[in-house]
Amino acid sequence: MTSTKRQNHLEYYRQHGIAPVRYDLSSMDAHLQRREALYNKLGILPFAFKGATVLEVAAGTGHNSLYLAQLKPGRLLLLEPNATAVEHIRAAYAGFELPHTAPEIVTQTLQEFEPAESFDVVLCENWLGNSAQELALLDKLSHLVAPGGALVVTTVAPIGFVPNLLRRFLVPYLVSPDMDFEAKSAILEEAFAPHLNTLGAMTRNARDWVQDNMLNPAYFGLCLSIPTVIERLRGNFDVVGASPSFAEDWRWFKSLAGEDRNINGHILKEYWRKAHNYLDHRQPATPVDTDTANRMEHLAYEILSAVESHEDAHIAHSANVQTAAAKVRELLLEFIGALPSELPAVKALHEFADLAFALSAGALDAVSHMEHFNSLFGRETSYLSLVRRPAWSSAIQA
Ligand SMILES: C[S@@+](CC[C@H](N)C(=O)[O-])C[C@H]1O[C@@H](n2cnc3c(N)ncnc32)[C@H](O)[C@@H]1O
Repeated sequence: MTSTKRQNHLEYYRQHGIAPVRYDLSSMDAHLQRREALYNKLGILPFAFKGATVLEVAAGTGHNSLYLAQLKPGRLLLLEPNATAVEHIRAAYAGFELPHTAPEIVTQTLQEFEPAESFDVVLCENWLGNSAQELALLDKLSHLVAPGGALVVTTVAPIGFVPNLLRRFLVPYLVSPDMDFEAKSAILEEAFAPHLNTLGAMTRNARDWVQDNMLNPAYFGLCLSIPTVIERLRGNFDVVGASPSFAEDWRWFKSLAGEDRNINGHILKEYWRKAHNYLDHRQPATPVDTDTANRMEHLAYEILSAVESHEDAHIAHSANVQTAAAKVRELLLEFIGALPSELPAVKALHEFADLAFALSAGALDAVSHMEHFNSLFGRETSYLSLVRRPAWSSAIQA
């Protein structure tokens, strides 16, 4: 239930003149290795970019595109409507020393963009969510991919989203709406930096993370899940890979023809055996029964909407705050009850439940010093690569 009208990503970034997605480029080698590892896992090997036409939508600071550019695509188009981000793109390329294809920067929105040609590879990271308008934009994105070409999108695992949704629940107790943006950012950075510092491989700074996750009004709309993408695109696309990769396929390739092919159906089945593993990035993967995974995912969506309503109450209906907080607590306890009890996340979530609903003065100190919850981060953002079926196989059922 959403009542408050929220800004979208672009309005929010433009209002504050920010592009809070700067990556750690202190070692360009390490940055390129990370990006290479990602695309290799997604099944898009370096030669696939060479000479190809590549479109990155919502390119942000352009830092991610540097890897693509040095693979010398025939054409590299970066679509980015936020002027601050475009400045970062220009700066990133001005300082990029490896031989590369110079990108064409298009400052339009995806809604405005009407190219004359399709592309071999289309990428869109960390932007599209699950509103009806954004799902229509996912369709548009998919139509920009040439037959036989690749689409890469990021998804958000609802179960993996829960730890950060719970952090977001704390925000109204740490900052007040009348504080200025920089003051809010500073306080939230102080509260959550000790949490972020537990993540060994973090490549974004805490200030950007706070602005993009804890203060971004569009945050609650981000939850575009793997099943949603597959259901939406399965008419024309087959999943190739994912990072983290969750699917095993022991079927003999010779059986993958005709009705038995069922690439997307198989991936979905695997997803529902593994989805609980998104909850904790440290958790070694185990299988679970599909009913448990379904129940957890359902409750994760309910938690999302309850945390959003709780924030709305703080912004515009203060009389409803307590009821809204009680709803979050009730759902969280139900979620904990649905978890396989051996998961270490159970302790962290109980700690949160004990502390978060009794916060008062000194909240900041209590939040930054949580013993178990501090280090609970989900496998929240998950990449998915898909191939657009070539014309000869368009009749094959997904
Ligand atoms: C969270 S950032 C992600 C940036 C980059 N893809 C990354 O992962 O670092 C979201 C990006 O989406 C861009 N964006 C927002 N609305 C857009 C639109 N309608 N069309 C294209 N890009 C948009 C923003 O300007 C911003 O750069």
